[in-house]
Amino acid sequence: GSAPALPGLAPVVGHRGAALHAPENTMVSIRKAHALGARWVEIDVKLSRDGVPFLLHDESLERTTSGSGPAAGKSWQELAALDAGGWFGEAFRGEPLLSLEALAALLLELGMAVNVEIKPCPGREEETALVAGEMLARLWPKDGPVLLFSSFKRASLAALQRSVPHFPRGLLVEALPEDWAQAMQDLGCTTLHPSHRRLSPGELRLLKEQGVPVLLYTVNEAERARELLEAGADAVITDAPERILPLVGAGAR
Ligand code: G3P
Ligand code: MG
Repeated sequence: GSAPALPGLAPVVGHRGAALHAPENTMVSIRKAHALGARWVEIDVKLSRDGVPFLLHDESLERTTSGSGPAAGKSWQELAALDAGGWFGEAFRGEPLLSLEALAALLLELGMAVNVEIKPCPGREEETALVAGEMLARLWPKDGPVLLFSSFKRASLAALQRSVPHFPRGLLVEALPEDWAQAMQDLGCTTLHPSHRRLSPGELRLLKEQGVPVLLYTVNEAERARELLEAGADAVITDAPERILPLVGAGAR
């Protein structure tokens, strides 16, 4: 079967904002992606202990914040006091973690589209999707930029499908699973998001023959991006949007 296209999808999506240039998943990273010319960003969302959705990639706080231990163990009040910029560079010291609510306001101010990856703490797959979905259904205008959810967790995608079916969903995978077509159909996914390192040229050709919109992560080299976009990838998710934007026509961005 052939999947519907995703209107408004752009070929260059800033990964965690512009993660090569600024501390990932923070306001300054998203503003940087915008300043570099990206019109889309991808970000990771999880819940604080008290159920506030916010942006963080890892399960634990060590790598990208001044905190330590599992993020799931901290209240939003505790998380909001952490420094999420100093690890990346002195110039970013004091940059806070970003709540999903503040992210929505920022993106609407910038007029940017977004791929919201549900990255739940273990055991909170459904709850994270339900809370993020409910919040964005409330905050995101019906005629706003594209808002595309994605997740590696099928339970999260299923929860979104039940609760906020009007937002498009993407199935996020490492290698292409054998049941990708059935999973996309069952979960009502519009897009497929494999790792570019794990997808063979033959698999990409098959997906394009099937009409499936494909977003590949994480592509940081211009030459690799050119090859993938020429082979039919619909978008690359990149830490360095400025390397890849020159390859795509201004009208296509
Ligand atoms: O959504 C694409 C990509 O971000 C998935 O992997 O680990 O960077 O969140 P990760
Ligand atoms: Mg991600």
